[in-house]
This record gives sequence, structure tokens and C-alpha cells, in this order.
Amino acid sequence: MIEFKEKRIKAVNFIKQKLDIDPKIGLILGSGLGEYSNELEDKKIIKYSEVPGMAVSTVEGHAGEFVFGKKFGKDIVAMNGRVHYYEGYTMKEIAFPVWIMKELGISKLIITNAAGGLNKTFRPGDLMVLTDHLNFMNNNPLIGKNDDEIGPRFPAMTEAHPQEMIEVAEKAAKKADIHIMKGVYLAITGPVYEGYAMSKFQRLIGADAVGMSTVPELIAGTHAGLDNLAISCITDVMKGKDEESLTHEEVMMVAKKVKPKFKRLINNILEIL
Ligand code: HPA
Repeated sequence: MIEFKEKRIKAVNFIKQKLDIDPKIGLILGSGLGEYSNELEDKKIIKYSEVPGMAVSTVEGHAGEFVFGKKFGKDIVAMNGRVHYYEGYTMKEIAFPVWIMKELGISKLIITNAAGGLNKTFRPGDLMVLTDHLNFMNNNPLIGKNDDEIGPRFPAMTEAHPQEMIEVAEKAAKKADIHIMKGVYLAITGPVYEGYAMSKFQRLIGADAVGMSTVPELIAGTHAGLDNLAISCITDVMKGKDEESLTHEEVMMVAKKVKPKFKRLINNILEIL
């Protein structure tokens, strides 16, 4: 990751020259959830395409901009859209904005995504706070020479989901009268949705939800010493053989329906933090 050090410094200098900002909380908004950035006050936007070294999302539902603003008097940087491994980007390109946000001053990172439900008690539209994750991407953004300025060579993933942050999400959900699930997220590369045997296997090894993102950013955040909080919007559950196959449109449609609930949860989380 050392090769990204210069890029990071360049990107951070570019943003700092453009805007007078001091974000403390980073918020990565997943598929169909980007609109939350409209909630921020005193908004200032920088498109990813303007930032030197930043990768730009090619997926529908991912706008591709940093939105700087305030909520409950707190300085926030929201990522309206992210890039994914299946788009052909490297793990380091995916982690890059986390390194930028860390350098800009954040200490807390909220990561959201759309995910498929494996736990049989989950229903489309449920929200799940991650208590742990399984990395089935067979890759890691920290491979390569370590950047000691950001974090240690061998960070422990037991630190990836701090209990205090999980409790913040639970408290926020309770206040919003939302029944929030807790569980383990399994990351696959995508872009394929799993078949029957794969879903069965994923459930068997302890996953409650499956998706194509979040874990690279979680690893980068943990390495950088950030307090992470990851939340999945469950957009679908394992299909029966007599049902229509899952489509991206279905995922986006459910994410859209969940928006008001998601908004209430994130608002309450930001208020508590
Ligand atoms: N599998 C993988 N990724 C997903 C799914 C799924 O079922 N739903 C939304 N993202």
C-alpha cells in the first residue's frame, strides 16, 4: 500500500485546497442508499472524478461523489456511491477513499451496503448490524508493503466491529422503533449472485448475509484505527427453485423502499455518536 501513499497525499491536498472541512465521521453509502447524503446540511460536493487517484463507480445506484456537510452539529463526509471489486478495481483502489477520509480527520467510519439474507429469520427490508465478517474475496487491500503511517503490518480483525459501535446502532434502532438484526456478513467478489449450493454453504459456515462490498473498506478502516460500524440493508432472501431469480433491479427496488427506515436509523446513529 506504500505506493498509494503519494496518491493519498495528493488527493488529500486537493480536497483541502478546495474546501475548508474537518470531518470526524465517514459514511459510505451503498447501493441505492446514496440519497442519505441529502440529509446533510451546509453541503459541499466533490466528484470522485475530480479527485486525483480516485476510482469512479460504473454501477447504477452509485453517484460517485464525496458530500461534506453537517448533521447534529457534527462534521460528516459521506461517500455517495462506492467502487466494487467486481468492477475490475483493485482492493487498494477500493480502500483508497478510506485512507483519504482518515487523513482528512475521521475517527469513525459507518459502512452501509445492500445484501442478500441467509439467516432464515431475515426478510427483505430488514436492517442488520454487522457483528463480524467473513472475507471470501480471496484478496486484501493491505497486501504489499505496509504504510506504517496508517497502521500496523498485522492488524487484528477482532477489532473490526467494536462493541461500543454495535451498541450505538442498537440504541439508535430502538429510538427509531426499528427491529434491527445482528449478524455475520460474508463478502464475495460478485458480480454473480449465488446459486443454491453456494447459499447453503454460506449459511452453513455461519454467514447471516452476503454481499459484494464492505469488507475491503472494513479492513482498511480497522488497519487505520477507525471505529467501524457496518450496516446491511437486506434486499432479498434465498430464493426457492420455483421463484424468479434475483436481479439488480429487485435489489435496488427494495433498497429504495427501505430508505425512510434507513434514514431514521442513520440519523439516530449520527445523533448519538
Ligand atoms: N448476494 C450477493 N450480493 C447481494 C445480494 C445477494 O443475494 N443481494 C444484494 N447484494
